[in-house]
Amino acid sequence: MRDNWYERQVLPYLIHVVCGTGTFRHQRRQVVPAAVGEVLEIGLGTGLNLPFYDPAKVSRILGLEPSLISHHLADRRIQASPIPVELIALSAESIPLPDQSVDTVVCTYTLCTIPDPVAALHEMKRVLKPEGKLLFAEHGKAPQAEVFGWQNRLQPVWGKLAGGCHLNRDIPELFRQAGFHSTLQQGYVKGPKVFSYQYWGEAKP
Ligand SMILES: C[S@@+](CC[C@H](N)C(=O)[O-])C[C@H]1O[C@@H](n2cnc3c(N)ncnc32)[C@H](O)[C@@H]1O
Repeated sequence: MRDNWYERQVLPYLIHVVCGTGTFRHQRRQVVPAAVGEVLEIGLGTGLNLPFYDPAKVSRILGLEPSLISHHLADRRIQASPIPVELIALSAESIPLPDQSVDTVVCTYTLCTIPDPVAALHEMKRVLKPEGKLLFAEHGKAPQAEVFGWQNRLQPVWGKLAGGCHLNRDIPELFRQAGFHSTLQQGYVKGPKVFSYQYWGEAKP
């Protein structure tokens, strides 16, 4: 992660506000309740997914999150969670867990920001049990050439403002490159088209 005052002290608050809106809550509700067993959440952020886990189905949540200010912002939701949550302050490109050790990986609005998303997906595949699944909701490349063109044009500025977030990543292609088989839905959610094309569903190793 790049390290400067804006990204450490301001951006996590902005992301928390944007990612906490109704549209994002709706998307989280589409995927997070399907999590079971031992869960690894990639980029736990400020813990906005925590209220959507089913305590009857999930035994523990390991939250991988390199940003320490996000740990602080997540604290209230972690304390309120009926499911035990353990934070790991590391990056997804090198997950400190044994092979085939988790039942579910959850990754929402994080593949856009991870510097090497294919390496991170390989790691998610490594730690998932063979019958496990990766649940995801992500924004990314729009199918229309005109919108994608604007995503590419805005990317250099957007990446700087949004902590390395990419508007234009081809999410299904990232899964393919990492050897996942994804079953997904896609489409525009509320908001300007360049920011609002989303992919959500599950991927299996
Ligand atoms: C847009 S936020 C989304 C947070 C949360 N997943 C959510 O759905 O609200 C992106 C998150 O990815 C985290 N992140 C960035 N690089 C990462 C990496 N290499 N490994 C794991 N998480 C990373 C950031 O710290 C940030 O919390």
